[in-house]
Amino acid sequence: MSGNPDLRRRPRRLRSSPALRQLLAETDLGPADLVYPIFVIHGAGQRRPLPSLPGQAQISVDLLADEARELQSLGIPGVLLFGVPARKDDEGSENYDPDGIAARAIRELKDAAPDLLVFSDLCFCSYTGHGHCGIINQTGSPHYQPELPQGHLLNDASLDILARAAVVHARAGADFISPSGMLDGMVAAIRDALDSQGLAGTGILSYAAKFASGFYGPFQHAADSAPAFGDRRTHQLPPANRREAMLEIELDEAEGADILMVKPALAYLDVLAAARLRTRLPLAAYQVSGEYAMLHAAAANGWLDLRRTALESLLAIRRAGADFVISYFAKDAARWLGG
Ligand code: PBG
Ligand code: ZN
Repeated sequence: MSGNPDLRRRPRRLRSSPALRQLLAETDLGPADLVYPIFVIHGAGQRRPLPSLPGQAQISVDLLADEARELQSLGIPGVLLFGVPARKDDEGSENYDPDGIAARAIRELKDAAPDLLVFSDLCFCSYTGHGHCGIINQTGSPHYQPELPQGHLLNDASLDILARAAVVHARAGADFISPSGMLDGMVAAIRDALDSQGLAGTGILSYAAKFASGFYGPFQHAADSAPAFGDRRTHQLPPANRREAMLEIELDEAEGADILMVKPALAYLDVLAAARLRTRLPLAAYQVSGEYAMLHAAAANGWLDLRRTALESLLAIRRAGADFVISYFAKDAARWLGG
């Protein structure tokens, strides 16, 4: 019967019932695979909804205990913490203030729920008046370098304040320091600072392959971290470059990172899959604010089923190689998954 397909092979046989499909699932997704991002502000009894992140809010420190208990009851093992400071200055000094928003929030969470993992985001863009991820080059600054352009993010000077803030976050009780600024040498600088201060038990989850992405839009409002001028393209990765992302992955592993992250997630699944082949370290993926906002916007128009597309996206991120996913959907997904 030339020209006929070979119907001895019928892959559909294995898809014929829910029990078979469940038995043969190659990838799974549960509440234990998720980490929930939280934006924390000073004050009391405050919950400020974020319009571009439907269902998400900035919450004051005193509400963290309830939040932590809710996450634990849902089976979510950790949070990624973003402090939104009361004051901003050129060096983002609140980030390394032991009474600053990050340190206070970490202490509050660890007091309320010692077993909930705290990944503390470590960047300066929420803390600096100019909204950049560290110290920038400007005339009059003690760090001024005339050979570099005005407004350039100074790498090595920024490493010093990163290391300083890492120690403050770690002393407050953070389980993992999560540097997100894509500065050269940031992991090594943080590792050395932690080790020299007796904090060898504190881990580093590095934003190793973080791309200069338009999908961070809603976040920059939530964390009040949009740059006042310029952009982040001199430190974040060019979206065209997977090979360069592998270099970043390998450098952060060599510098002593414990866990590596790829970010954003859905538009960079090839990068995640490639990273999975390069390293034996655990991999995290960040389903970022724009990914969340897109699905919500389409669902609000009746164009997509939110639950179905959110769970499908999270599963796809796991399939591509993420051991866990940082997601604004974490709580909803845990409920949908019956956690
Ligand atoms: C700060 C930071 C950003 C995100 C996490 N940490 C934004 C940026 O680099 O501009 C994005 C997270 C999200 O969009 O959900 N360095
Ligand atoms: Zn930053």
